[in-house]
Amino acid sequence: MLKPNLHYRELHDSYLFARIAERTAAYLEAHPGQRLLRMGIGDVSQPLCPAVIRALHAAVEDQADRERFQGYQPECGAPFFRETVAAHYARRGVAVRPEEVFVSSGASDELGHILDLFDPASPALIPEPAYPAYVDANVMTGRPIRHLPTGPEAGFLPEPEAAGDAGLVYLCSPNNPTGAVLDRSLLRRWVDWANRSGAVLLFDAAYEAFVRDPALPRSIFEIEGARHCAIEICSLSKTAGFTGTRLGYTLIPLELERSGMNLNAMWVRNRTTRSNGVSYILQRGGAAVFSEEAQAQVHKTLDIYKKNAKIIADTLHRLGLFYTGGRNAPYVWMRCPEPYGSWEFFDLLLRNIQVVGTPGEGFGASGAGYFRFSAFGSPEDTEEAMARLERLLN
Ligand code: MLT
Repeated sequence: MLKPNLHYRELHDSYLFARIAERTAAYLEAHPGQRLLRMGIGDVSQPLCPAVIRALHAAVEDQADRERFQGYQPECGAPFFRETVAAHYARRGVAVRPEEVFVSSGASDELGHILDLFDPASPALIPEPAYPAYVDANVMTGRPIRHLPTGPEAGFLPEPEAAGDAGLVYLCSPNNPTGAVLDRSLLRRWVDWANRSGAVLLFDAAYEAFVRDPALPRSIFEIEGARHCAIEICSLSKTAGFTGTRLGYTLIPLELERSGMNLNAMWVRNRTTRSNGVSYILQRGGAAVFSEEAQAQVHKTLDIYKKNAKIIADTLHRLGLFYTGGRNAPYVWMRCPEPYGSWEFFDLLLRNIQVVGTPGEGFGASGAGYFRFSAFGSPEDTEEAMARLERLLN
């Protein structure tokens, strides 16, 4: 008899955001007609920018034209997409070659797929609180996981001295959910450690566009030595509103080798086998994100989310609650007021003020007693939600 993958038994019954969706659906069923203010999953509220929409329309027209029509796209990415991303990094002073850029259908998908590159017996280190897909994707493959708790004393930042014998290390900066950003010196310590130990750093840069402080790194490849130990996973979801459009990219340096095997070449082998490429239309839309015109438009939208984050942070400040994030990140991470635990606080807000957030416990044990607000909602909903929170807690 065929045995299923028994590691699925080690997972929670449902994924964090599915659990939240179930609870909110149950609430709405019991209270029909209520409008919820959604600040849970980090889904964007603002539309794609005009320059991207124009590129998408033009690509649709290409598909209607016998001469310009495109069939299968190269599995690792259309040359125009790979070149555009590499040029964008060059403008930021980071040398990346087009053949080091791999198109993806989004960071969350890629964070699971990329595990194909590594021996499932090498332990993964996951600094927590963490995006729950890191843990679940590794549990599914049966890889041993070491959970590295971080807390407010160290600004929710992981230290390499605690990494032990990990083979694969997840670093997310700006961090989901805490908003903490690894500065250059801490990131350099991680890079040095990985180069010494032979580990590989999986750098999740999904929120890099929220970093405005030029002293802070947006790419791990701003750090010397990273080309020998890191993979960077990027997304256009939060940068340019592609949560429903689905497009991202992954950077794997040509120098990255372990046990005499080249990880870039391995990923080419993987993609050419497991993928038939990503839609031509989406890659045209994605490439358009990096034009000067689109960058100006995208940054206007990011400013809306940044303003939301400030509204949330200011409200928590007035309420005298401990919080982090919201400055170079679209998430605000707060300690729940006494006597509430994460899920109790979730229920309190849902039932009393119809606001949906994310319980910190969903990001790992060290998130217990914390709660995350997303700044990706509309300004109106964010203001209304914070006004209700202030009334409730006062
Ligand atoms: C989050 O809310 O943590 C993210 O939006 C989830 C995701 O990107 O998949």
